Amino acid sequence: MQLNDLKSSEDSKEVTEAWQALEKTIIYYQGRPVGTVAAYDLSVEALNYDQCFIRDFVSSALIFLLKGRADIVRNFLEETLKLQPKERALDAYKPGRGLIPASFKVLSENGQEYLEADFGEHAIARVTPVDSCLWWILLLRAYVVATDDFSLAQRPEFQNGIRLIMDICLANRFDMYPTLLVPDGACMIDRRMGIYGHPLELQVLFYAALRASRELLICQGNQDIVVAIDNRLPLLCAHIRQHYWIDINRLNAIYRFKSEEYGKAAVNLFNIYVDSIPYYELDKWLPKKGGYFAGNVGPSQLDTRFFAVGNLMAIVSDLATEQQSQAIMTLIEERWDDLVGDMPMKICFPALENEEYRIVTGCDPKNIPWSYHNAGSWPVLMWMLAAAAIKTKRTSLAQRAIEIAQARLCDDEWPEYYDGKKGRLIGKQARKYQTWTITGFLLAKELMANPTYLPLITFGKLPPEVVSRACEFEIASVDPYMPR
Ligand code: GLC
Repeated sequence: MQLNDLKSSEDSKEVTEAWQALEKTIIYYQGRPVGTVAAYDLSVEALNYDQCFIRDFVSSALIFLLKGRADIVRNFLEETLKLQPKERALDAYKPGRGLIPASFKVLSENGQEYLEADFGEHAIARVTPVDSCLWWILLLRAYVVATDDFSLAQRPEFQNGIRLIMDICLANRFDMYPTLLVPDGACMIDRRMGIYGHPLELQVLFYAALRASRELLICQGNQDIVVAIDNRLPLLCAHIRQHYWIDINRLNAIYRFKSEEYGKAAVNLFNIYVDSIPYYELDKWLPKKGGYFAGNVGPSQLDTRFFAVGNLMAIVSDLATEQQSQAIMTLIEERWDDLVGDMPMKICFPALENEEYRIVTGCDPKNIPWSYHNAGSWPVLMWMLAAAAIKTKRTSLAQRAIEIAQARLCDDEWPEYYDGKKGRLIGKQARKYQTWTITGFLLAKELMANPTYLPLITFGKLPPEVVSRACEFEIASVDPYMPR
């Protein structure tokens, strides 16, 4: 079956063209479809955009699952699993055991095809893709939910693959937070942007991957990992809900924080210095009932930038409480011009400017203020916005966003990203026919038309037996402003 057959006769011109463009992006390996290239833009040098990126494939995979093309997703999962190193690396420059690559491509030698993976060792700045293994587990779980076929995940090699990923995530380490400590640029934002440490996006994906692994792991032989997941989940959840949350009440509490508190009774646990926070701007910007999760929390650090993937996926994965989810959607609604503007939606807000831009990005010309990762607008985020809107019953917001995008995306030839404060300029170095722009649009429309598909990526509340384990641990000084 061709992808074209998946269109319906009622589709708009934009949707029809999106399907046609998507067809061209499919990668075949030994005669089987195994993924999609990042962009099919023949007008510029491909660099690595001719590869299948794990994170970029997520929206392709979900739309394939919804449209009865689970075979492509299955092939992808099988082939990428084979690329995962199963032994401990002896060479520190080689990928560690359990990692899933950032991307892969099909090569051939003497008429024999093979897959070559990139774990970041070829990538610009050699950034490591921490998010790949987390998205991979989420896709495996989405495959199981969509097909009702548990047998793939039950296969010993898949159980081992999940276990190896959990081993890296839950390994003994230096720090003592329930969050994951990661280097800069280890996710969708794969350039230096001051998101090293405990960036929100990876914490939320970590949480969702723990939830998915808990469902997928068969207890026999994996009991130790299941116990470790059950121990980590409630702490991780409480930590993010409490320490990352910003709304006007919380801002006020931080504003009045004492510093240099020593010992167990400390309220300002991370010793945040008020002067490091743009409280004057935030006081103006935060709507009365709006709120969001901060970009990063660490020693004397609270990154108050709004990051879209982390906030939207926190809603989708049920990491945010119901009250927090509503507050995030209220923020998006009330600060529409800043966060959505003329193209849904900003990857983060606001941009780093002037000296801060120079120091934090390392003078990166691609990440100048209001461009690319530095507060550019990325249409792929539309599917997460749609999923979050359905989850919170705020679908009119997603509808509005889709209409804005529909008016331009196809005529603009599906750019990778847009620049400018309102997202009106096609990104300076944006590829055209970027696959996740196409699939982000199709998936947003599909989810809106069929909200019953949402369980592919949502989880529901933590099971009570897992939550009760949190009581066995001491959750440090519960903040009175933490929504419950
Ligand atoms: C850019 C993006 C990254 C994406 C890749 C391929 O590097 O920052 O998130 O995976 O392009 O589209």
